[in-house]
Amino acid sequence: MTESPHPPISKAVIPAAGLGTRFLPATKATPKEMLPVVDKPAIQYVVEEAVSAGLHDVLMVTGRNKRPLEDHFDRNYELEEALSKKGDSARLARVQESSDLATMHYVRQGDPRGLGHAVLCAAPHVGREPFAVLLGDDLIDPRDPLLARMVEVQKQQGGSVVALMEVDPAQIHLYGCAAVEPTTDGDVVKVTGLVEKPDTADAPSNFAIIGRYVLDPGVFDILRQTEPGRGGEIQLTDALQQLAVDEKAGGPVHGVVFKGRRYDTGDRGDYLRAIVRLACEREDLGPDFRTWLRRYVTEEM
Ligand code: G1P
Repeated sequence: MTESPHPPISKAVIPAAGLGTRFLPATKATPKEMLPVVDKPAIQYVVEEAVSAGLHDVLMVTGRNKRPLEDHFDRNYELEEALSKKGDSARLARVQESSDLATMHYVRQGDPRGLGHAVLCAAPHVGREPFAVLLGDDLIDPRDPLLARMVEVQKQQGGSVVALMEVDPAQIHLYGCAAVEPTTDGDVVKVTGLVEKPDTADAPSNFAIIGRYVLDPGVFDILRQTEPGRGGEIQLTDALQQLAVDEKAGGPVHGVVFKGRRYDTGDRGDYLRAIVRLACEREDLGPDFRTWLRRYVTEEM
């Protein structure tokens, strides 16, 4: 049997070993990924996003104190039985939703040596297929699908694909930054170089990597050789820079330019904005909440 040049993508990797120090003390004993966005933990939105792009095999790269993540995506028989006895089928369905979503796998990162190292921990599970990486701090509005488009571009172009968003140049030092060239597809650019969190003056563009990647498995070979970079950590961006300049290693690298709604739930202000926005738009909570919010803004602010 001849191998298809671009095998279908079925695996998603979600690094979730971070300490969540920006949310202390809430994250002292609770993983930051479990903080609720309205009434669902942030991480569930991310897993749902992977699943809606057709990726049903999800590997979470976790660390110490992350057991609640495993419990959340597992069955909770006691709770299910209690709800079912009460005849509360709506809540029962909400409880079962997360355990029925995807086939979940977990691996521990051990030493927190950076995002590149976290991705490398996924190598034995992923094998030699292209795969997606979704960062838990970036929440992409489900109405603005991004990952599915990235998977499509990877199928057409091969190599690796990153998600890019134009940001205020003053903010580029918070992101991986891409030097890009246009392609014939309006929302797709060719990435010619990447640098992790550059100073504004040194940034090659204002195209920031937002936390979605579709990667050629060649990235693992590069990550094994990647020296610690910015912040003394093994940076995924540094490995991608290698892919961008070496097609044989797992390039080329393309970028899908995202213009939709993205929330950075790792930032307290943006986290609050995400909750307000998503709550306003919910059919069940939205009407009352919007009325209250309007009154609050006009009368009390
Ligand atoms: C990571 C990546 C960075 C990327 C960002 C997106 O940084 O290293 O390249 O732009 O995620 O959210 P972090 O925010 O984890 O420091």
